[in-house]
Amino acid sequence: MSTKTSVIRGGLSAPAIEAEGLVKVFGTNRAVDGVDLRVDSGKIYGVLGPNGAGKTTTIRMLATLLRPDEGSARIFGHDVVKEQHIVRQLIGVTGQYASVDETLSATENLVIFSRLLGLGRSEARQKAAELLEEFGLTDAAKRPLKHFSGGMRRRLDLAASLIAQPPLIFLDEPTTGLDPRTRTQMWETIRRLVASGSTVLLTTQYLDEADQLADRIAVIDRGQVIAEGTVDELKSSVGASSLQLRISNPLDLMESRRIVEQVLRVATNVSAEAGKITAPLTEADKVTDLLIALRDSGIALTELSVQKPTLDEVFLTLTGHGVEGDTAETNGSVLNQKEVMA
Ligand SMILES: Nc1ncnc2c1ncn2[C@@H]1O[C@H](COP(=O)(O)OP(=O)(O)OP(=O)(O)O)[C@@H](O)[C@H]1O
Ligand SMILES: [Mg+2]
Repeated sequence: MSTKTSVIRGGLSAPAIEAEGLVKVFGTNRAVDGVDLRVDSGKIYGVLGPNGAGKTTTIRMLATLLRPDEGSARIFGHDVVKEQHIVRQLIGVTGQYASVDETLSATENLVIFSRLLGLGRSEARQKAAELLEEFGLTDAAKRPLKHFSGGMRRRLDLAASLIAQPPLIFLDEPTTGLDPRTRTQMWETIRRLVASGSTVLLTTQYLDEADQLADRIAVIDRGQVIAEGTVDELKSSVGASSLQLRISNPLDLMESRRIVEQVLRVATNVSAEAGKITAPLTEADKVTDLLIALRDSGIALTELSVQKPTLDEVFLTLTGHGVEGDTAETNGSVLNQKEVMA
Protein backbone atom coordinates (compact mmCIF):
# COMPACT_ATOMS: atom_id res chain seq x y z
CA MET A 1 0.00 0.00 0.00
CA SER A 2 2.73 2.47 0.92
CA THR A 3 4.58 1.87 -2.36
CA LYS A 4 1.37 2.55 -4.15
CA THR A 5 0.84 5.77 -2.27
CA SER A 6 4.29 7.03 -3.12
CA VAL A 7 3.88 5.97 -6.75
CA ILE A 8 0.65 7.86 -6.93
CA ARG A 9 2.14 10.85 -5.23
CA GLY A 10 4.96 10.83 -7.79
CA GLY A 11 2.48 10.85 -10.64
CA LEU A 12 -0.26 13.02 -9.22
CA SER A 13 0.33 15.97 -11.46
CA ALA A 14 0.29 13.79 -14.58
CA PRO A 15 -2.97 13.03 -16.38
CA ALA A 16 -4.58 9.70 -15.46
CA ILE A 17 -4.24 8.54 -19.06
CA GLU A 18 -2.22 9.87 -21.95
CA ALA A 19 -2.11 7.81 -25.11
CA GLU A 20 -0.67 8.68 -28.48
CA GLY A 21 -1.13 6.81 -31.71
CA LEU A 22 -2.12 3.48 -30.18
CA VAL A 23 -2.37 0.74 -32.79
CA LYS A 24 -3.30 -2.92 -32.46
CA VAL A 25 -3.47 -5.16 -35.49
CA PHE A 26 -5.03 -8.62 -35.47
CA GLY A 27 -4.04 -10.30 -38.74
CA THR A 28 -5.15 -7.79 -41.33
CA ASN A 29 -7.62 -6.08 -39.02
CA ARG A 30 -6.43 -2.77 -37.57
CA ALA A 31 -8.67 -3.12 -34.53
CA VAL A 32 -7.20 0.03 -32.99
CA ASP A 33 -5.88 2.38 -35.61
CA GLY A 34 -4.08 5.34 -34.07
CA VAL A 35 -5.97 6.26 -30.92
CA ASP A 36 -5.01 9.36 -28.93
CA LEU A 37 -6.59 9.84 -25.51
CA ARG A 38 -6.10 12.17 -22.62
CA VAL A 39 -8.02 11.66 -19.40
CA ASP A 40 -7.53 14.09 -16.54
CA SER A 41 -7.51 12.65 -13.08
CA GLY A 42 -10.65 12.80 -10.98
CA LYS A 43 -12.97 12.58 -13.98
CA ILE A 44 -15.29 10.10 -15.62
CA TYR A 45 -14.28 9.57 -19.21
CA GLY A 46 -16.57 7.76 -21.61
CA VAL A 47 -15.45 5.78 -24.63
CA LEU A 48 -18.41 5.33 -26.87
CA GLY A 49 -18.64 3.14 -29.90
CA PRO A 50 -20.51 0.32 -31.62
CA ASN A 51 -19.63 -3.38 -31.46
CA GLY A 52 -16.14 -4.04 -32.72
CA ALA A 53 -15.10 -0.37 -32.66
CA GLY A 54 -11.98 -1.21 -30.66
CA LYS A 55 -13.05 -0.16 -27.15
CA THR A 56 -12.01 -3.32 -25.30
CA THR A 57 -8.77 -3.61 -27.26
CA THR A 58 -7.89 -0.01 -26.33
CA ILE A 59 -8.62 -0.68 -22.65
CA ARG A 60 -6.55 -3.86 -22.72
CA MET A 61 -3.55 -1.94 -24.03
CA LEU A 62 -3.97 0.81 -21.42
CA ALA A 63 -4.34 -1.80 -18.69
CA THR A 64 -1.11 -3.60 -19.74
CA LEU A 65 -3.03 -6.72 -20.76
CA LEU A 66 -2.09 -6.33 -24.43
CA ARG A 67 1.05 -4.85 -25.94
CA PRO A 68 0.45 -2.03 -28.43
CA ASP A 69 1.88 -2.59 -31.93
CA GLU A 70 2.50 1.12 -32.29
CA GLY A 71 2.14 4.23 -30.20
CA SER A 72 2.56 4.73 -26.49
CA ALA A 73 0.52 5.32 -23.37
CA ARG A 74 1.17 6.50 -19.86
CA ILE A 75 -0.93 6.01 -16.75
CA PHE A 76 -0.27 8.79 -14.21
CA GLY A 77 2.94 9.36 -16.13
CA HIS A 78 4.04 5.70 -16.17
CA ASP A 79 4.60 3.94 -19.46
CA VAL A 80 2.27 0.96 -19.96
CA VAL A 81 5.01 -1.12 -21.58
CA LYS A 82 8.21 -0.08 -19.81
CA GLU A 83 6.62 0.36 -16.36
CA GLN A 84 3.97 -2.35 -16.43
CA HIS A 85 4.45 -3.32 -12.80
CA ILE A 86 3.87 0.22 -11.57
CA VAL A 87 0.89 0.75 -13.86
CA ARG A 88 -0.72 -2.45 -12.58
CA GLN A 89 -0.67 -1.10 -9.04
CA LEU A 90 -2.51 2.00 -10.14
CA ILE A 91 -5.41 0.43 -11.98
CA GLY A 92 -8.41 -1.80 -11.55
CA VAL A 93 -10.19 -3.51 -14.40
CA THR A 94 -13.62 -5.03 -14.05
CA GLY A 95 -14.01 -8.43 -15.55
CA GLN A 96 -10.50 -9.21 -14.39
CA TYR A 97 -11.85 -11.19 -11.44
CA ALA A 98 -14.38 -13.22 -13.37
CA SER A 99 -12.92 -16.35 -11.79
CA VAL A 100 -14.68 -15.78 -8.46
CA ASP A 101 -15.54 -19.03 -6.73
CA GLU A 102 -19.19 -20.03 -7.26
CA THR A 103 -19.45 -22.13 -4.14
CA LEU A 104 -18.13 -19.45 -1.80
CA SER A 105 -20.22 -16.61 -0.43
CA ALA A 106 -19.79 -12.99 -1.49
CA THR A 107 -17.99 -12.23 1.79
CA GLU A 108 -15.64 -15.16 1.39
CA ASN A 109 -14.77 -14.16 -2.16
CA LEU A 110 -13.97 -10.60 -1.16
CA VAL A 111 -11.95 -11.71 1.85
CA ILE A 112 -9.89 -13.99 -0.39
CA PHE A 113 -9.20 -11.20 -2.88
CA SER A 114 -8.24 -8.89 -0.05
CA ARG A 115 -5.83 -11.45 1.41
CA LEU A 116 -4.35 -12.02 -2.06
CA LEU A 117 -3.71 -8.31 -2.26
CA GLY A 118 -1.83 -8.42 1.01
CA LEU A 119 -4.38 -7.25 3.58
CA GLY A 120 -4.28 -8.81 7.04
CA ARG A 121 -7.10 -11.08 8.22
CA SER A 122 -9.13 -8.53 10.17
CA GLU A 123 -8.40 -5.81 7.64
CA ALA A 124 -9.66 -8.13 4.88
CA ARG A 125 -12.89 -8.85 6.77
CA GLN A 126 -13.49 -5.19 7.40
CA LYS A 127 -12.82 -4.32 3.76
CA ALA A 128 -15.19 -7.05 2.58
CA ALA A 129 -17.95 -5.80 4.89
CA GLU A 130 -17.45 -2.20 3.78
CA LEU A 131 -17.63 -3.10 0.12
CA LEU A 132 -20.71 -5.28 0.51
CA GLU A 133 -22.42 -2.42 2.30
CA GLU A 134 -21.31 0.04 -0.38
CA PHE A 135 -22.66 -2.17 -3.13
CA GLY A 136 -25.92 -2.99 -1.40
CA LEU A 137 -25.01 -6.64 -1.05
CA THR A 138 -25.01 -6.91 2.73
CA ASP A 139 -28.19 -8.99 2.80
CA ALA A 140 -26.76 -11.41 0.28
CA ALA A 141 -23.30 -11.54 1.86
CA LYS A 142 -23.56 -15.08 3.20
CA ARG A 143 -25.19 -16.61 0.13
CA PRO A 144 -23.05 -18.62 -2.27
CA LEU A 145 -22.43 -16.87 -5.53
CA LYS A 146 -24.27 -19.42 -7.60
CA HIS A 147 -27.53 -17.98 -6.25
CA PHE A 148 -26.63 -14.44 -7.32
CA SER A 149 -28.45 -12.63 -10.12
CA GLY A 150 -26.52 -11.13 -13.03
CA GLY A 151 -26.73 -7.65 -11.55
CA MET A 152 -25.49 -8.81 -8.14
CA ARG A 153 -22.54 -10.56 -9.78
CA ARG A 154 -21.69 -7.43 -11.71
CA ARG A 155 -21.68 -5.44 -8.49
CA LEU A 156 -19.58 -8.03 -6.69
CA ASP A 157 -17.18 -8.00 -9.61
CA LEU A 158 -16.84 -4.24 -9.35
CA ALA A 159 -16.45 -4.53 -5.56
CA ALA A 160 -13.65 -7.07 -5.99
CA SER A 161 -11.81 -4.83 -8.40
CA LEU A 162 -11.99 -2.00 -5.87
CA ILE A 163 -10.38 -3.77 -2.93
CA ALA A 164 -7.06 -2.22 -3.76
CA GLN A 165 -8.78 1.19 -4.19
CA PRO A 166 -7.01 1.88 -7.45
CA PRO A 167 -6.69 5.51 -8.52
CA LEU A 168 -7.76 4.58 -12.05
CA ILE A 169 -10.59 2.17 -12.81
CA PHE A 170 -11.43 0.76 -16.22
CA LEU A 171 -15.03 -0.30 -16.56
CA ASP A 172 -15.71 -2.13 -19.79
CA GLU A 173 -19.45 -1.85 -20.45
CA PRO A 174 -20.31 -1.90 -16.74
CA THR A 175 -24.06 -1.93 -17.22
CA THR A 176 -24.60 -4.04 -20.31
CA GLY A 177 -27.44 -6.45 -19.66
CA LEU A 178 -28.48 -4.95 -16.33
CA ASP A 179 -32.07 -4.04 -15.57
CA PRO A 180 -32.82 -0.30 -15.36
CA ARG A 181 -32.84 -0.21 -11.55
CA THR A 182 -29.52 -1.99 -11.20
CA ARG A 183 -28.11 0.22 -13.92
CA THR A 184 -29.05 3.34 -12.00
CA GLN A 185 -27.46 1.88 -8.86
CA MET A 186 -24.30 1.18 -10.80
CA TRP A 187 -24.23 4.78 -12.01
CA GLU A 188 -24.53 5.94 -8.41
CA THR A 189 -21.64 3.72 -7.39
CA ILE A 190 -19.48 5.02 -10.22
CA ARG A 191 -20.23 8.61 -9.24
CA ARG A 192 -19.33 7.86 -5.63
CA LEU A 193 -16.04 6.28 -6.69
CA VAL A 194 -15.10 9.43 -8.49
CA ALA A 195 -16.26 11.61 -5.61
CA SER A 196 -13.87 9.67 -3.38
CA GLY A 197 -10.95 10.46 -5.66
CA SER A 198 -10.77 7.78 -8.35
CA THR A 199 -10.66 8.36 -12.07
CA VAL A 200 -12.93 6.19 -14.22
CA LEU A 201 -12.69 5.28 -17.86
CA LEU A 202 -15.79 3.48 -18.97
CA THR A 203 -16.81 2.09 -22.29
CA THR A 204 -20.40 1.95 -23.28
CA GLN A 205 -22.70 1.43 -26.19
CA TYR A 206 -25.43 3.31 -24.36
CA LEU A 207 -25.50 6.91 -25.34
CA ASP A 208 -27.59 7.92 -22.36
CA GLU A 209 -25.03 6.34 -20.06
CA ALA A 210 -22.22 8.47 -21.46
CA ASP A 211 -24.57 11.43 -21.31
CA GLN A 212 -25.42 10.77 -17.64
CA LEU A 213 -21.95 9.98 -16.35
CA ALA A 214 -19.12 11.21 -18.45
CA ASP A 215 -17.33 14.55 -18.13
CA ARG A 216 -15.83 13.98 -21.54
CA ILE A 217 -16.40 11.44 -24.28
CA ALA A 218 -14.37 9.97 -27.09
CA VAL A 219 -16.44 8.44 -29.85
CA ILE A 220 -14.59 5.62 -31.55
CA ASP A 221 -15.49 3.93 -34.76
CA ARG A 222 -13.43 1.36 -36.65
CA GLY A 223 -10.42 1.81 -34.42
CA GLN A 224 -10.27 5.59 -34.62
CA VAL A 225 -11.39 8.46 -32.43
CA ILE A 226 -13.82 10.34 -34.63
CA ALA A 227 -14.90 12.91 -32.06
CA GLU A 228 -13.84 14.03 -28.60
CA GLY A 229 -15.21 16.55 -26.17
CA THR A 230 -17.76 17.23 -23.48
CA VAL A 231 -21.25 15.90 -24.06
CA ASP A 232 -22.45 19.43 -24.74
CA GLU A 233 -19.66 20.07 -27.22
CA LEU A 234 -20.48 16.90 -29.09
CA LYS A 235 -24.13 17.74 -29.14
CA SER A 236 -23.53 21.21 -30.41
CA SER A 237 -21.12 19.99 -33.08
CA VAL A 238 -24.04 18.17 -34.59
CA GLY A 239 -26.36 21.11 -34.77
CA ALA A 240 -28.32 23.58 -32.82
CA SER A 241 -31.15 22.81 -30.49
CA SER A 242 -34.57 23.05 -32.00
CA LEU A 243 -37.57 25.00 -30.84
CA GLN A 244 -40.97 23.41 -31.18
CA LEU A 245 -44.20 25.31 -30.95
CA ARG A 246 -47.70 23.95 -31.05
CA ILE A 247 -50.31 26.48 -32.08
CA SER A 248 -53.80 26.34 -30.48
CA ASN A 249 -55.76 27.44 -33.51
CA PRO A 250 -54.80 25.70 -36.79
CA LEU A 251 -55.93 28.79 -38.70
CA ASP A 252 -53.10 30.74 -37.07
CA LEU A 253 -50.44 28.35 -38.28
CA MET A 254 -49.20 30.22 -41.35
CA GLU A 255 -49.26 33.59 -39.64
CA SER A 256 -47.34 32.06 -36.72
CA ARG A 257 -44.77 30.68 -39.09
CA ARG A 258 -44.27 34.09 -40.65
CA ILE A 259 -43.70 35.62 -37.21
CA VAL A 260 -41.28 32.87 -36.14
CA GLU A 261 -39.24 33.26 -39.31
CA GLN A 262 -39.24 37.01 -38.99
CA VAL A 263 -38.19 37.12 -35.34
CA LEU A 264 -35.71 34.23 -35.33
CA ARG A 265 -34.52 34.87 -38.91
CA VAL A 266 -34.46 31.17 -39.77
CA ALA A 267 -36.33 28.80 -42.04
CA THR A 268 -38.93 26.69 -40.25
CA ASN A 269 -40.66 23.36 -40.74
CA VAL A 270 -44.38 23.15 -40.38
CA SER A 271 -46.45 20.10 -39.69
CA ALA A 272 -49.99 21.15 -40.50
CA GLU A 273 -51.64 18.01 -39.08
CA ALA A 274 -49.90 18.40 -35.75
CA GLY A 275 -50.25 22.19 -35.74
CA LYS A 276 -46.56 22.30 -35.03
CA ILE A 277 -43.73 24.58 -36.04
CA THR A 278 -40.09 23.53 -35.65
CA ALA A 279 -37.22 25.99 -35.91
CA PRO A 280 -33.48 25.76 -35.27
CA LEU A 281 -32.61 27.70 -32.15
CA THR A 282 -29.28 29.43 -32.27
CA GLU A 283 -29.96 32.29 -29.90
CA ALA A 284 -32.04 31.28 -26.91
CA ASP A 285 -32.53 34.94 -26.00
CA LYS A 286 -34.74 35.52 -29.01
CA VAL A 287 -37.41 33.18 -27.66
CA THR A 288 -38.66 35.98 -25.41
CA ASP A 289 -39.04 38.32 -28.38
CA LEU A 290 -40.85 35.59 -30.25
CA LEU A 291 -43.33 34.93 -27.45
CA ILE A 292 -44.10 38.61 -27.13
CA ALA A 293 -44.61 38.94 -30.91
CA LEU A 294 -46.97 35.96 -30.91
CA ARG A 295 -48.99 37.33 -28.02
CA ASP A 296 -49.20 40.76 -29.65
CA SER A 297 -50.73 39.06 -32.70
CA GLY A 298 -53.23 37.23 -30.50
CA ILE A 299 -51.77 33.80 -31.23
CA ALA A 300 -52.06 31.24 -28.44
CA LEU A 301 -49.68 28.31 -27.94
CA THR A 302 -50.52 24.93 -26.42
CA GLU A 303 -46.94 23.79 -26.15
CA LEU A 304 -43.41 25.09 -26.33
CA SER A 305 -40.31 22.97 -26.03
CA VAL A 306 -36.61 23.13 -26.79
CA GLN A 307 -34.92 19.94 -27.88
CA LYS A 308 -31.19 19.38 -27.71
CA PRO A 309 -29.86 16.82 -30.15
CA THR A 310 -29.50 13.41 -28.52
CA LEU A 311 -26.23 11.54 -28.43
CA ASP A 312 -27.81 9.04 -30.80
CA GLU A 313 -28.10 11.81 -33.33
CA VAL A 314 -24.53 12.85 -32.62
CA PHE A 315 -23.35 9.34 -33.31
CA LEU A 316 -25.31 8.96 -36.49
CA THR A 317 -24.14 12.27 -37.80
CA LEU A 318 -20.50 11.55 -36.98
CA THR A 319 -20.30 8.02 -38.30
CA GLY A 320 -22.96 8.06 -40.98
CA HIS A 321 -24.13 4.72 -39.67
CA GLY A 322 -26.06 3.53 -36.67
CA VAL A 323 -24.83 2.41 -33.29
CA GLU A 324 -25.68 -1.20 -34.08
CA GLY A 325 -22.74 -1.25 -36.46
CA ASP A 326 -23.00 -2.56 -39.99
CA THR A 327 -26.57 -3.72 -39.66
CA ALA A 328 -27.73 -0.15 -39.19
CA GLU A 329 -29.63 1.12 -42.18
CA THR A 330 -28.32 4.01 -44.18
CA ASN A 331 -31.90 5.21 -43.95
CA GLY A 332 -31.42 6.08 -40.34
CA SER A 333 -28.53 8.37 -41.05
CA VAL A 334 -30.19 10.05 -44.01
CA LEU A 335 -33.27 10.69 -41.95
CA ASN A 336 -31.11 11.98 -39.19
CA GLN A 337 -29.13 14.35 -41.40
CA LYS A 338 -32.41 15.87 -42.48
CA GLU A 339 -33.56 16.26 -38.93
CA VAL A 340 -30.31 17.84 -37.92
CA MET A 341 -30.35 20.26 -40.80
CA ALA A 342 -34.04 21.05 -40.41
N1 LIG B 1 -7.84 -11.34 -29.57
C1 LIG B 1 -8.31 -10.98 -30.76
N2 LIG B 1 -7.94 -11.62 -31.90
C2 LIG B 1 -8.40 -11.24 -33.11
N3 LIG B 1 -9.24 -10.21 -33.30
C3 LIG B 1 -9.65 -9.52 -32.22
C4 LIG B 1 -9.22 -9.88 -30.89
N4 LIG B 1 -9.79 -9.03 -30.01
C5 LIG B 1 -10.56 -8.19 -30.75
N5 LIG B 1 -10.48 -8.48 -32.07
C6 LIG B 1 -11.15 -7.74 -33.15
O1 LIG B 1 -10.80 -6.39 -33.02
C7 LIG B 1 -11.89 -5.55 -33.31
C8 LIG B 1 -12.18 -4.65 -32.11
O2 LIG B 1 -12.66 -5.46 -31.06
P1 LIG B 1 -12.99 -4.89 -29.61
O3 LIG B 1 -13.32 -6.05 -28.76
O4 LIG B 1 -11.90 -4.01 -29.17
O5 LIG B 1 -14.28 -4.02 -29.91
P2 LIG B 1 -15.28 -3.35 -28.89
O6 LIG B 1 -15.41 -1.93 -29.29
O7 LIG B 1 -14.88 -3.64 -27.50
O8 LIG B 1 -16.64 -4.09 -29.24
P3 LIG B 1 -17.87 -4.57 -28.26
O9 LIG B 1 -18.74 -3.39 -28.13
O10 LIG B 1 -18.52 -5.64 -29.06
O11 LIG B 1 -17.28 -5.05 -26.99
C9 LIG B 1 -13.04 -6.46 -33.68
O12 LIG B 1 -13.07 -6.55 -35.07
C10 LIG B 1 -12.65 -7.79 -33.06
O13 LIG B 1 -13.18 -8.84 -33.80
MG1 LIG C 1 -15.75 -4.65 -25.92
